[in-house]
Amino acid sequence: MRPIEKKPAVFVIFGGTGDLNSRKITPALYNLFLEDWLPGKFSIIGTGRTVLTDDEYRTNMLEGINRFSRRGKALEEKWAGFSKNLFYQVSDVNDAASYASFTDKITELENEWGGKANVIVAPQLFPVIAANISKNGLCDDITKTRIVIEKPFGNDLESAKDLNKLLTGIFDEKQIYRIDHYLGKETVQNIMAFRFANSIFEPLWNRNYIDHVQISVTEQLGVGDRGGYYDSSGALRDMVQNHILQLLCIIAMEVPVNFSADEIRDRKVDVLHAMRKFAPNDIRKVAVRGQYSGGWIEGKEVHGYREEMHVAPDSNTETFAAVKFFIDNWRWAGVPFYVRTGKYMQRASSVISIQYKDVPNSIFPSESSESWQQNRLVISIQPEMSIRLQVQSKRPGLEMTLNPVDIVFDYKGTYEADSPEAYETLLLDAIIGDQTLFMRGDQVEAAWELVMPILNAWESKKSLSFPNYSAGTWGPEVAEALIAQDGYHWFSLPDNHKKPA
Ligand code: BG6
Repeated sequence: MRPIEKKPAVFVIFGGTGDLNSRKITPALYNLFLEDWLPGKFSIIGTGRTVLTDDEYRTNMLEGINRFSRRGKALEEKWAGFSKNLFYQVSDVNDAASYASFTDKITELENEWGGKANVIVAPQLFPVIAANISKNGLCDDITKTRIVIEKPFGNDLESAKDLNKLLTGIFDEKQIYRIDHYLGKETVQNIMAFRFANSIFEPLWNRNYIDHVQISVTEQLGVGDRGGYYDSSGALRDMVQNHILQLLCIIAMEVPVNFSADEIRDRKVDVLHAMRKFAPNDIRKVAVRGQYSGGWIEGKEVHGYREEMHVAPDSNTETFAAVKFFIDNWRWAGVPFYVRTGKYMQRASSVISIQYKDVPNSIFPSESSESWQQNRLVISIQPEMSIRLQVQSKRPGLEMTLNPVDIVFDYKGTYEADSPEAYETLLLDAIIGDQTLFMRGDQVEAAWELVMPILNAWESKKSLSFPNYSAGTWGPEVAEALIAQDGYHWFSLPDNHKKPA
């Protein structure tokens, strides 16, 4: 177990009656409690406008845990131990006076515990909340108060800058924990272990050996009931600006000097700074968009995006985006990084494929290698959690026949224990004050800077072809063309990995 000092802690969750809390935050805190990661003295105060008693709030949270926790239904005895630390306070985030109620609650707890607690607040509507927290004197002690913020962090570069300015006017950067939940995923953290705890990959991790990189995060879900949010966001803002660029940074970053939060985040910012900034005329060559029409997902007929709840019937919002990025530095000059993401795609799969260059001269006769493929390192983030190195091998028999096979590290076959949910990792890090897996303000701004020319181009020019892919497919044809014009195709893991015949 990580040696951590378990100081008393109070969590204040704004949006306490919201979906994110019942699905992710409280189940994650409950699982941390089960594994004895939470301090002995802790309290979780949910706040929201809905009028609820503590008991009603506890019942709602229990339902959330029973439905969404990776550990399944809560055990009665454990739940009793956890739930006595759960409280609810009605509050209107816009009304400075209503903050007094949970400030009083915190003071009451501190008096009972006989010492000051760490206070961790997880707000969604954070500009007004941050200002009001400050007015109520909750963030005066840099070492004791932390603010954990969910995405979206701004809607464009300007709004992200404004938010950073506002936050850093109230908090020290060391108190601000901007969540990108992809960074908490077990498989994503493992990319760093894989790259920097093994000596064999680094010599092959550059333009001399790598032909191109693909990062593909496809989802099988549509926008569901999030149309209101999504229609003002779109795939580029929702997935590329944050999750996908973070994955790209971890793949492309230089070797950090140590594992400290700022060193790692500095190296990631270096990548963002080295990435090519697109001019308006470049956009059509490097970025394509798509929007789903109705179709079939696993045998069930589904609506098109424009028919979704809270979505404009003539919406120009993209539900699919693919971009070809370049990193203009010594390690990566000339190596394209293709990224794609979309909703209602054929399969849910988040995969990074690093394709190596071909052998300089093949000594085998062409008939021996009909299914010849370049070496590929495939990091599968979800749902399969694995790393595969694709190599050529001789098929057993009297002839020299080559075919590609995988050298596989699969979490399932290697580890018995379940992986923690991203929010468990991230909330524990916020408790202990480790910012490594959180976004620093300059990182967020650098990522916005990079996607702004694409957003501007797409916003200024309505797509005439939307909707341009059917739900349940691999996305629009333009995405195939984007990569095919360079002689490649999008890589996807086969549904099940069959042994070669
Ligand atoms: C969120 C996006 O940040 O990530 C959602 O807002 C998306 O639209 C989700 O569905 C994907 O996360 P995961 O962990 O399910 O891959």
